[in-house]
Amino acid sequence: MTSDHSLLRLLHLCCLSLQLIALIGASDDSSPTSIISRFQQYLRINTAHPTPSYYEAADFIISQAKSLSLDHQTIEFRKNKPLILLKWPGKNPYLPYILLNSHTDVVPVETNKWAHPPFDAHIDSSGNIYARGTQDMKSVGLQYLEAIRKLQKFGFEPTRTVYLSFVPDEEIGGHDGAGMFAESDVFEKMNVGIVLDEGLASPDENYRVFYAERSPWWLVIKARGAPGHGAKLYDNTAMENLLKSIENIRRFRASQFDMVKAGLRVEGDVISVNMVFLKAGTPSPTGFVMNLQPSETEAGFDIRVPPTYNEEFLEKKIAEEWAPAARNMTFEFKQKVPVFDKWGKPVLTAANNSNPWWVLLAEAVQKADGKLGKPEIFPAATDARSFRQLGFPAIGFSPMANTPILLHDHNEFLNQAEYLKGVDIYVSIIKAYASYEGQADDSASKDEL
Ligand SMILES: *[C@@H]1O[C@H](CO)[C@@H](O)[C@H](O)[C@H]1NC(C)=O
Ligand SMILES: *[C@@H]1O[C@H](CO)[C@@H](O)[C@H](O)[C@H]1NC(C)=O
Ligand SMILES: [Zn+2]
Repeated sequence: MTSDHSLLRLLHLCCLSLQLIALIGASDDSSPTSIISRFQQYLRINTAHPTPSYYEAADFIISQAKSLSLDHQTIEFRKNKPLILLKWPGKNPYLPYILLNSHTDVVPVETNKWAHPPFDAHIDSSGNIYARGTQDMKSVGLQYLEAIRKLQKFGFEPTRTVYLSFVPDEEIGGHDGAGMFAESDVFEKMNVGIVLDEGLASPDENYRVFYAERSPWWLVIKARGAPGHGAKLYDNTAMENLLKSIENIRRFRASQFDMVKAGLRVEGDVISVNMVFLKAGTPSPTGFVMNLQPSETEAGFDIRVPPTYNEEFLEKKIAEEWAPAARNMTFEFKQKVPVFDKWGKPVLTAANNSNPWWVLLAEAVQKADGKLGKPEIFPAATDARSFRQLGFPAIGFSPMANTPILLHDHNEFLNQAEYLKGVDIYVSIIKAYASYEGQADDSASKDEL
């Protein structure tokens, strides 16, 4: 054999071992580069309404599940809206399960208002990843999976079963996603003990955490009155009657907002009322008839009511002050999510020592060097409501500190270091939750995945 030959053989061997290393790396890869690259892959799938690529997202999630040997199931409670359910079986099937929920859909974008294309997942020189869904909430969905990947690498075996649901539809109300899921037989058989769902980014160093959310009440008020000449002064016109209501509602809005401005309350603790439309006037070819007082006027309001608020008090206010029949006014709700559940209790999850899941979460975040802010009421609606309404504890949490709140905004981004830190936060939380042996349940587990 010439020396050339042995050199070739050596090179060949080298190549083989390099290939082997590459193979091993691919099946068990928790390097930051791989974690970020998987996040980018998920972000590049355009799941924006009104035509979300749900099946592409499903394929991606299932490929991740396979790489982690998780059981997977695709359920369409509504046709063409797949929900992906993954399961990491625990050693003790009698303990209530953990459900890690995230939604796969995102809100639409105005591409030309973005500095980087919203489905490219471009990373700038500061490490900020730009894409629709970086904050809301593809980050969280994939962080759950990355945390499981790390836990598996450490050899951790869950005692309690962990489920992951990737649900559709959240951004258009959630009914065909988490809503139908929570009401389903599949869910009932899952024996869920705790649900984790989304939170919000935090501009300071403390993560935000949510134990409840405000209920949306979409109110339309109508006033009727005798029409008349635009020059005539007379009482009880439709416009006058509506304006009295609007003045009253504005005073109430200011009283709530003032408490937030003064720092006495946070946003989720007050009732928000915003006028979203105003409909009045008699149309003419050039705009509106100017010398005629109309006989009908209408206004719409988006109202958000915290669960700590007395619903009857607000109902009374609407009926007696905002749309009183005595002023020839009527009202209707386009949507009215009850503040109380079917047992008459406010829809919230205890965020104190009475709830072991709360205590475990707070401890786990701290152990992973994270800081947690005071628990809050989520100002808008999330899927967590569907679970809380049925009496299941649900905590809203997205580990994004030092991050401007950009959900639904242009140039939504998340820094890659913050994303990686979030993975470690979930490693700590999932480990604590899946090891927790308290709150045993007598009924045998009935699920068949
Ligand atoms: C309500 O409508 C009735 C009938 O059109 C009218 O007589 C009355 O003055 C109106 N009242 C108010 C307060 O607008
Ligand atoms: C814990 O929070 C729940 C719900 O807010 C409340 O009803 C309960 O009194 C609190 N318990 C303790 C020990 O603070
Ligand atoms: Zn969301």
